[in-house]
Amino acid sequence: MNSRFFPIIHRTNNYRNLFIGIDSPVPLRDGTSIPGVNFDNGATTPPLLSVMEEISRFAPHYGSVHRGTGYKSIISSEIYEQARKEVLRFVGGDYQRDTVIFVKNTTEALNKLANRLYSKHKNGIVLTTWMEHHSNLLPWREKFKIDYIDIDEQGRLKLDDLQTKLERYQGLVKLVTVSGASNVTGHRNHIHQIAEIAHRYGAKICVDGAQLVPHAPVNMGPSNYLGHIDYLAFSGHKMYAPFGAGVLIGPRETFEEGAPDYTGGGTARIVTPDRVIWYEAPQREEAGTPNLMGVVALLAAIRTLTAIGMKRIQSHEEELLAYTYEKLRWLGGLYFYGGIPLNKEQLSQRIGVISFNVAGMYHQDVAEFLAQEGGISVRNGCFCAQPYVQRLLNISREQMEMHLYNPTLPQPGMVRLSFGLYNTKEEIDRLMDVLSKIVRKKTWSGAVAAPPH
Ligand SMILES: Cc1ncc(COP(=O)(O)O)c(C=O)c1O
Repeated sequence: MNSRFFPIIHRTNNYRNLFIGIDSPVPLRDGTSIPGVNFDNGATTPPLLSVMEEISRFAPHYGSVHRGTGYKSIISSEIYEQARKEVLRFVGGDYQRDTVIFVKNTTEALNKLANRLYSKHKNGIVLTTWMEHHSNLLPWREKFKIDYIDIDEQGRLKLDDLQTKLERYQGLVKLVTVSGASNVTGHRNHIHQIAEIAHRYGAKICVDGAQLVPHAPVNMGPSNYLGHIDYLAFSGHKMYAPFGAGVLIGPRETFEEGAPDYTGGGTARIVTPDRVIWYEAPQREEAGTPNLMGVVALLAAIRTLTAIGMKRIQSHEEELLAYTYEKLRWLGGLYFYGGIPLNKEQLSQRIGVISFNVAGMYHQDVAEFLAQEGGISVRNGCFCAQPYVQRLLNISREQMEMHLYNPTLPQPGMVRLSFGLYNTKEEIDRLMDVLSKIVRKKTWSGAVAAPPH
């Protein structure tokens, strides 16, 4: 399906012709417009051409999933079920052990898992970390007693603290839940090492793969490997497949007992006026008509990314990261959060995310300047990872109390660049031109950027 693109890719290492809309013009402050540059891929990504083509190709065959005997319904159900197998293969899941549940996004996946595990382990403890996105924090905090695995001054997880906490809680920890890669610093976690430690103490591991799965190979591994991943969540829209499909993968047995979190159509095998027998997972966990187009899009993206090769994608993005740091370091007047990777080994522990502040300037002003003067989209603020950003900015609990009482105070934050497969060094050069203007100009609207620890 996608193969016609690949001879071009492999010769030129240019992935831009695989995407839609990445050169669309955006307006500037002076009334002119230029092709936009998108360095906000951590939030969401533009669609792959192959995804849009597959949506159009499939549309005439679109029908109901699991709900009809008509031809289109049969085709639709087959594709939907086939997608589970391909998703599992893409992340090295175990066919015997795992089930693939389609959801809206990572947030829904993690909420679903929290609901399900709560019905099994009401008094269990969940270890999360200081570096999590709110989506891998609040669903657990709402239900369980939780504790945070600590981070070092560069924002990396302290594995000795994981070990200490597992020992301290003496078997009560049922789950260790960590991001595969941070959406703030780009640090990748040693997920298999964490899994080994967790499993030794009888806990399972969940990986929030929202930022890892689109950017590097992931292999959950077989059950007989101590470092296997028990649960994995990720989102299609962060891997070039909009249309609202996400994934939760986990052992089938996790979803065997109790009522699903949402009930209704598609979840029940038999319903009488006063009794119900649920389907097995994954069907019981997917209430209502499934998002088939979302799954078709996700499948097309997975096929394209696989054909390019996740290793190749990782090294392309590492190269962009190295190039950007090299340029940014010499610009002066910037604070970086998470430390600067200095060699290949350190680069391989990152995804293409850089968070920084311009000394003396408010993050919002920097982000607006980049957009309005340079047509460059970035994200600014706390990126839905407020406790982590507060730690990196060295903001005390007392200072945060002030914000709790006065939410209109300028919020602390940073500026974030997050790369995608299609970004280029030329785009980074454009960023440098605009950033150097900012650093020289320093328009300031009232709140000063905080240096890192
Ligand atoms: C690390 C991480 N986890 C979870 C999420 C939530 O993803 P979604 O909005 O697709 O649910 C994000 C989104 O930015 C993220 O970066």
